[in-house]
Amino acid sequence: MSSMVAIICFATTANADDGYRLWLRYDPLPKSAIASYQSVCDSVVVRGSSPTLNIIRAELANGCAGLLGKAVTVTDTLATKGIVLVGTPQSSTEIAGLKWNRQFDELGSEGFIIRTVRINNHPLTVIASQGEVGLLYGAFRFLRLLQTLQPIDQLNLLDKPRLQLRVLDHWDNLDGSIERGYAGRSLWNWQALPDKIDPRLVDYARANASIGINGVTLNNVNADARILTTEYLRKVAAIANVFRPYGIRVYLSARFSAPIEVGGLKTADPLDPQVAAWWQKKADEIYELIPDFGGFLVKANSEGQPGPRTYNRTHADGANILAAALAPHQSVVIWRAFVYDAKPGYDRAGAAYAELQPFDGKFAANVLLQVKNGPIDFQPREPFHPLFGAVPTTQLMPEFQITQEYLGFSNHLAFLAPMWREFFASDTYAHGRGSTVARIVDGTLYHQKITGIAGVANTGSDRNWTGHYFAQANWYAFGRLAWNLDLTSRQIAIEWIAMTLTHDPGATETISRIMLESREAVVDYMTPLGLHHLFWGGHHYGPAPWWNTEPREDWNPVYFHRADANGIGFDRTATGSNTVTQYHHPVSDRFANLNTCPEKFLLWFHHVRWDYRMRSGRTLWDELALHYQRGVDWVRHTRREWDALKGIIDPERHEAVAKKLAIQERDAIVWRDACLLYFQTFSKRPLPSGVEKPAKTLEEYKAKSLLN
Ligand code: GCU
Repeated sequence: MSSMVAIICFATTANADDGYRLWLRYDPLPKSAIASYQSVCDSVVVRGSSPTLNIIRAELANGCAGLLGKAVTVTDTLATKGIVLVGTPQSSTEIAGLKWNRQFDELGSEGFIIRTVRINNHPLTVIASQGEVGLLYGAFRFLRLLQTLQPIDQLNLLDKPRLQLRVLDHWDNLDGSIERGYAGRSLWNWQALPDKIDPRLVDYARANASIGINGVTLNNVNADARILTTEYLRKVAAIANVFRPYGIRVYLSARFSAPIEVGGLKTADPLDPQVAAWWQKKADEIYELIPDFGGFLVKANSEGQPGPRTYNRTHADGANILAAALAPHQSVVIWRAFVYDAKPGYDRAGAAYAELQPFDGKFAANVLLQVKNGPIDFQPREPFHPLFGAVPTTQLMPEFQITQEYLGFSNHLAFLAPMWREFFASDTYAHGRGSTVARIVDGTLYHQKITGIAGVANTGSDRNWTGHYFAQANWYAFGRLAWNLDLTSRQIAIEWIAMTLTHDPGATETISRIMLESREAVVDYMTPLGLHHLFWGGHHYGPAPWWNTEPREDWNPVYFHRADANGIGFDRTATGSNTVTQYHHPVSDRFANLNTCPEKFLLWFHHVRWDYRMRSGRTLWDELALHYQRGVDWVRHTRREWDALKGIIDPERHEAVAKKLAIQERDAIVWRDACLLYFQTFSKRPLPSGVEKPAKTLEEYKAKSLLN
């Protein structure tokens, strides 16, 4: 590029913010910060030209100009000061001359170096990587340093992602609706594609790249086979073209019976040679259109979906036939472990382990088993899934749910990083002490070759992307943790607040405390002490612990809490389903023993008498009731704290969050009252002092869902 281009991007407004810009808001920083950054970013030199490099150039120039409130020059010449130089050793002779080859090799194509150096006696900041996507990640990291007010005059930062596949799973249907989506319609407009590309796709890809997400599954796991037709694949290819420069590969959910539905075959039996040939041909067609296609995600023999078991074949047979079709293209099959066939007297929490553990070692090299964090289904709190640590020769990737199906949709403020960190930190004892879930997931324990993680997306067509402004933080946290499992929830919260809401230290302290406490509060007012799945049937929003009319017993809350005159909870010990033995010793013993089971999992593993003495000295009943009350108290207190931030947070977002918190308080009260009134019909005990009298009767709560 020969001409000098000056890009000036001043803040649009400090007053109102509709949240569209997420954490990529490039408004001027506080004056003191600008003063200290003044000398570092006058001009941007990005060596080379490609779609990705052009994106980096614009991002850095706009970002620096906006944050520093000044003109930033995009140029080719290394001036004397204030240069940010970006390049690979191939695109930049200056960077090649630095001889960082060993480090580049260690960092791979997604890792990067940000370092302050002197070249020709000029101080400058170098962002370097072996790969262009690494440069893009480095550029966003550099901007984040500014956004979070970090010192940047003596930088020496090397970083790379811990996990290889960092994927958002969209449960988007072809009609534009989103299963468990609470922020509007799908971002993919299948009608208009491939001819018309919504510019919002670029903003979406950019936001993902800024937090290191490198894969997107476009369609619902309850898949429509039509996505694999040529007509739709052309539309998919158009999206993939938009995502590619941002380092994002597209994946598709494949319906196992697609060979019948769109292939015209009579069977989808994985061991039928015609079926294998159909998948092979389909894969070849896909790669013609999308050379960097990521792979298939498959929900098979689960909740009515077809699968290999329909043909008396195993999950491994099913996964491997698809894997064989993708293997020549260096991509993967992500096979979901969310399978549970009801058998009389069975325990749903043990079903996936029972079905899949025997197949350890039987999956092809390009198959990953995608396992939800807990054994039931994205509850506010679950113990870790027992498959983690149980299949040493199978590649596992966890699946989180960013969308808050069981945590108040986009109405409740629930920061999920603490939940995910709790999961990573769980010690499976698979190889003695220290065999944490994190070490299984990142491949260090079992030397897993392909590593990854998936999160069920919470995005939609709402202007602010996620419905609740604070739900943006869950999208952000997912990306940050997928990059580095060891980041603390607090660090993520603090970063996000600085980039999104405020630099005010007092407000930051308050907001981070609210965020860090929020998930525990939801557990308190929904499902404390190991309770789970007390949700209203179908929509899973409000409480319905009395629910017993689903066609399958393991979809009913009564199946999960088992309250009776003696007590409450699911006995998963030797006197019950005994699925606690799916965990390794000593975890299994610790959970199985009433005296050592963490109280947060008490009713998950035990059926406990109402008058059982808790560690606090209170009875189980009193303790349960006080947890429900504590959840309500937290929301009330949070509302007051949030109100006090008026004037510090822009009015648009302040008011919207305040309204959501009012809904959250209303809902928390309903949860407390409905659950306690219902459980009281068994415990026959009065509410302890400190717990408010219910606002309505049990019959009234039973009569009306919170959603209508
Ligand atoms: C939950 C959710 C379903 C979803 C399923 C899955 O059960 O309610 O909508 O299809 O999980 O993960 O497959």
